[in-house]
Amino acid sequence: MSNEETLDPENWDELRTLGHRMLDDMINHQRDIAKIKQAFPTETSIKQICTPLTEDGEGEQAVYEVFRNSIQPHISGSAHPRFWGAVGGTGSPYGMLTSMLNAGLNYATEEPPSVAGYTHKQVIEWIKDLLNYPKEAGGVLVSGGSEANYTGLAVARNACSEVDMKACGMQDVPRRMTMYVSEGGHHCLDRSVELLGIGGNNLRRIETGDDFRIKLDSLEKAIKRDRDEGYHPFCIIGNAGTVDTGAFDDFNVLANIAAREKMWLHIDAAFGGWVKISKTHRHLADGLERADSVAIDLHKWMYMPYGIGCALVRDRVAHYSTFAYGHDAQYIKAHRDLLSESDQLIRPDMLALPLSREWRSLKAYMLLRAYGRGKYGRLIQQNLDQAKYLADLVKDDPDMELTTPVASNVVCFRFNPGGLNEDELDKLNRTIINDIYKVRFWMISDTVVKGRFTLRAAITNHRSKRKDFDYIFNLVKEVGHKHFATLKKF
Ligand SMILES: Cc1ncc(COP(=O)(O)O)c(C=O)c1O
Repeated sequence: MSNEETLDPENWDELRTLGHRMLDDMINHQRDIAKIKQAFPTETSIKQICTPLTEDGEGEQAVYEVFRNSIQPHISGSAHPRFWGAVGGTGSPYGMLTSMLNAGLNYATEEPPSVAGYTHKQVIEWIKDLLNYPKEAGGVLVSGGSEANYTGLAVARNACSEVDMKACGMQDVPRRMTMYVSEGGHHCLDRSVELLGIGGNNLRRIETGDDFRIKLDSLEKAIKRDRDEGYHPFCIIGNAGTVDTGAFDDFNVLANIAAREKMWLHIDAAFGGWVKISKTHRHLADGLERADSVAIDLHKWMYMPYGIGCALVRDRVAHYSTFAYGHDAQYIKAHRDLLSESDQLIRPDMLALPLSREWRSLKAYMLLRAYGRGKYGRLIQQNLDQAKYLADLVKDDPDMELTTPVASNVVCFRFNPGGLNEDELDKLNRTIINDIYKVRFWMISDTVVKGRFTLRAAITNHRSKRKDFDYIFNLVKEVGHKHFATLKKF
């Protein structure tokens, strides 16, 4: 008898029964998400999880019980209706099912002429259309905002460098290359700049005004100073929704400066770019269509399952030539030589880092097509209206204070009953957030803007209702008053 093995089950009916149970459990998880209480992993769960690997395996059923008993009970996170910490992704029930189809088909590339090539191409077309980005531009789906920024900035570096960057790298640049972003730029930009060999010191952080937008005169001065000193200013990064405050730079002015200075304009629109499909805030992203490249997420404010983002690049050839292999590997050459030039330019494996790719476009394709522009636009608008609702609650209450202007879907605020100096307010609000975290970690989060500690709600959640904002508002006040009363005793 042959002793060849496979990972396919011996008994398909048993697997089917287990699979149906898993599906039911996950649908119930999604249905009941609002009821899930915060529960950090217990000692028992950790012991169950962190165990030596057995030689013979424990079997699918037994390992699923570990998932059910020790993993799933400790998860609710950003899918919960009361999650507005960091910038979270909620996912959705249908999104979950599309991910299952993806894993079921397990198709590794998204290149033409495969059907996956068509879904990828179509999703990029839809995203460009939703963002009003030029039709002639290209793009690629990637793992999220960080990779989308990295992708756009890699193209910027190669396209603007004064040497053949692929051959020489940063070793041979005649002038040090410099980039510019406001002090509100996300820290993943630092990571990209470091990984691209540009060096963190060469990413100039430009101050912002009271509106948290980049100060244009400071930007222009910095570019001029660098040029005068022999540097090579090559890229301006605009923010469409800064992570701390949700502020938007003025992209039309940035595009004018970039054009005049012969620089690349990249926009980090990770979550904020989606204001483009709102009714009330789309003007904030005016001029985004003039950027040379744009990074945007679909797993945050488009509520798709992690991890999916998109890099759009206006110049398809510059994009392709940054990532295409300098050599063409022989084992994949044959069928690629059959592709037309236009198909070459939309090969996702030549537009981003991975060669083997998850079929990300499948979920984006199905979700966008299932819900359409209208539903997504209304959900984005709902979150923007909820941000205003929360901001109004704060504004109208003498014990609460907005700490930054509310430009979009991020509300920065603090408990401020009066009579306390900045240090005391800082301390009091730190105590408040620690108590809030005990109720639910990152229900809201905190940050420091212009040296001031603040509470912060970033609303990218299709499950939140107005009552949830009443809840967090009242909770902050209640916890605030409790700690304020203790303070007064001393
Ligand atoms: C403005 C901004 N840019 C980039 C990122 C990084 O995106 P990701 O977490 O998808 O890698 C984030 C994440 O919150 C963000 O808010």
